[in-house]
Amino acid sequence: MDGNGRWAAQRGLPRLSGHDRGTSNIRRITTAAAELGIEYLTLWAFSTDNWRRPQDEIDGILRILAEVIERELDELDRQGARLRHIGSLEGLAPDLQTAVRSAIERTKTNDRLTLTLAFNYSGRQELLAAIKSLVESGVSADAIDEATIQKHLFTHDLPDPDLIIRTSGECRISNFLLWQSAYSELFFTPTLWPDFGAEGLLEAVREFGRRERRFGGVPENSSGGPLGGG
Ligand code: FPP
Repeated sequence: MDGNGRWAAQRGLPRLSGHDRGTSNIRRITTAAAELGIEYLTLWAFSTDNWRRPQDEIDGILRILAEVIERELDELDRQGARLRHIGSLEGLAPDLQTAVRSAIERTKTNDRLTLTLAFNYSGRQELLAAIKSLVESGVSADAIDEATIQKHLFTHDLPDPDLIIRTSGECRISNFLLWQSAYSELFFTPTLWPDFGAEGLLEAVREFGRRERRFGGVPENSSGGPLGGG
């Protein structure tokens, strides 16, 4: 959800206004995703590197997280959304940790849309945690395969993303779902997150539909010949 700060700066507003505005976007996007039949949606709200921001911005984002849970939970539950969190809850106030955990518990049997919030998340931190947990499990090197690693990731119960959308014109992954994005299609849009709506999501999904996914193989109906990975 990139571009909140620039959206605010363009209007001469404080950065937190951009985050507030970006938050009101979440319901639009989850509703549009559910209507499109998308079953898994992950929103990246806070990276492990975002702790480097000014304290008042961090405090504001944490406050917004608490407000979003309080304000949106009934509606998300009504829409059939199951909430998940990836990342670490460490560093959040105990009340906020409890609010996140109880929102996850309350919605755990919903099955229309799995809405994963990446908060205090980064891909390297996730891989590091997975490696530590593998070593602690005492597994032998020979027994480790891709499925073993998958089991130790925060996303152990989630499919790899088919499509990753990054708003605000930045064209990089920035430590997001590093393992899981191996074959994800990437969609970059100059639209700033607060302005990204249902039409933007539809445009990204349409573009995704035009992509040819080969997963390192060759296209269907190919007469053969190596094409290279992809
Ligand atoms: C990226 O824009 C956005 C963030 C780092 C925070 C996103 C947070 C929210 C939308 C509010 C919290 C919502 C939930 C659900 C917890 P940026 O600040 O990097 O924008 P910039 O690149 O234009 O400066």
